[in-house]
Amino acid sequence: MCGIICYCGKRQAVPILINGLKRLEYRGYDSAGFAVVGDAEGEKGKSIVVKAKGRVSQLEKKKSGMEIGATFGIAHTRWATHGKPSEVNAHPQLDCKGKISVVHNGIIENYQELKRELEAKGHVFKSDTDTEVVVHLVEEYFQGNLENAVLRTVERLSGTFGIAVVHADIDHEIVIVKRGSPIIIGIGENEYFAASDSSALAPYTNRMIYLSDDEIAILTADDYHIKNLKNEDLVKKIEVLDDMELHVDKKGFEHYMLKEIFEQPESIQNAFRGRIIEGEGVSKLGGLEPVLDRIKKIKKLVIVSCGTSYYAGLLGRYIFEHLTQLDVEVEVASEFRYRRLKLNEEVMVLAISQSGETADTLAAIKEAKRKGALILGIVNAVGTAIAQITDAGVYNHAGPEIGVASTKIYTSQLVILTLMALFIGRYQSVSFMEGAEIIRAITRLPEQVREILDNAEQIKEIALKYAKYKNYLYIGRLFNFPTAMEGALKLKEISYVHAEGYAAGEMKHGPISLIDKNFPTVAIAPDDLTLDKMISNMMEIKARDGKILSVTNDNVRKVADVSDDMIIVPRTLPILQPILNVVPMQLFAYYIAREKGRDIDKPRNLAKSVTVE
Ligand code: AGP
Ligand code: GLU
Repeated sequence: MCGIICYCGKRQAVPILINGLKRLEYRGYDSAGFAVVGDAEGEKGKSIVVKAKGRVSQLEKKKSGMEIGATFGIAHTRWATHGKPSEVNAHPQLDCKGKISVVHNGIIENYQELKRELEAKGHVFKSDTDTEVVVHLVEEYFQGNLENAVLRTVERLSGTFGIAVVHADIDHEIVIVKRGSPIIIGIGENEYFAASDSSALAPYTNRMIYLSDDEIAILTADDYHIKNLKNEDLVKKIEVLDDMELHVDKKGFEHYMLKEIFEQPESIQNAFRGRIIEGEGVSKLGGLEPVLDRIKKIKKLVIVSCGTSYYAGLLGRYIFEHLTQLDVEVEVASEFRYRRLKLNEEVMVLAISQSGETADTLAAIKEAKRKGALILGIVNAVGTAIAQITDAGVYNHAGPEIGVASTKIYTSQLVILTLMALFIGRYQSVSFMEGAEIIRAITRLPEQVREILDNAEQIKEIALKYAKYKNYLYIGRLFNFPTAMEGALKLKEISYVHAEGYAAGEMKHGPISLIDKNFPTVAIAPDDLTLDKMISNMMEIKARDGKILSVTNDNVRKVADVSDDMIIVPRTLPILQPILNVVPMQLFAYYIAREKGRDIDKPRNLAKSVTVE
């Protein structure tokens, strides 16, 4: 969680750091701060630290009017894990003498022992953060060489971290180290950067180095070095990112979330572009070719992921069961390690993650890897930890998703899951005709999503009508049970109202007791084989005065008869229908949250990438 940005060069550092923080703010946004070394208030070569509770705009306000001349420094926007959001807990954290500054992303798990040890040695702690032990350790080990002090510090730390350190007495040197939390080094013209993700560096450079775990980077005024923890120099590949991978602009939309919902025709297209051979009814996934022989021997698939990516996994189970002969399990990544699954070479574990950083998902696949399973990934953020650790995988190529609520990545994940299942299924029982039919339907999706988006005004009107309620039930069957879960998650995340997603058949086993005229139900009821049973469930709701908004296809009289309101979506194959059905659910959640005046792109308590377990 949290965003780190560092600059070392010849330009004024503060505006670059603040601008970077703004671009990273979606990652964590309860407080922010920076430390630069330079001139301020008539003094030269001193460490200047400015911190503020709240958004980056608060920090900017605090800094305005200060005359700061500095050409290197570090900055941080926080998502608190240890200690409340407050100015004193905001990063950078400082050593006793106020010379060393540290920003940190992640958690230091052994901070309590370290804190006791350091306090016994006379170090005085000011914050409640786990991070503060890092800076006192660096102070403890510092004997003139910052890099060595950081190396010795890292030996003492357990947990996950991306850390950047500066010392007021060392000109133009930033030491950065990574274990578990993402850090990218940006290479400019005679200037160097580091950041939690590449989009923060987009205005300055498109040349990036992805640090791996237990690597340390030293940025100086005219060079950079990367080493491992044994102090051996490493030569790392510089990746050149294209515009799509860097673009983070609202393009005139009121929120990133809305922009990203409207980008879906394009992101869906990008998910299958170059990945289908229509004439053969197959998908072509270059990323899986290197492990094709192993894939052919796989008997079981276990999908692991969290949140929205987990709901994509839930639907993935139905898709794989439909198109392949694999046994399929789906597990929330944070629960995976408590299971006693038989994991061996005949098992394939598929991690789904937008950010590629989610700590729970990462931990799950590390566990599966230890046991010999083949590890695949569906990841959007290129070069991230999950992408690095998997044996093979497929990128979404959907561009950065900035809104905390995932939208365009969910639909992109569903397309890729279908392509993966088809890829495997065509080696098994899926016929050419079936394959060709699926591919044809996939290619029509962008246009069909566009049709739904053209209807946004009508969805907005319906949303406004429903915005007054405090509780919502979402129901669906089979392929649309995950849609119900995802629809409910979208609404609760950004509008802070209670919404539950349920398998429609489960409703009568409990939740039906909640139904009354103030507890509306969103019924995902497309015209498929489950419709009659859905109608029965909707009737049960009607009989108890419950209001029903349904998402269905055109000319389905039975649904119209039991619905108070309807959103009509185009028809596609049943396994692909959820890709269309979820789009109005995203808009419905968006317009309700907007009506309530919520901070849609940065909902309270959340962060875009969850790098703690
Ligand atoms: C989605 O709207 C959420 N913000 C969240 O559930 C998210 O999907 C989850 O944290 C997983 O993230 P990932 O895809 O980056 O691993
Ligand atoms: N654990 C640290 C803290 O609570 C860092 C949190 C973050 O990654 O923002 O201060």
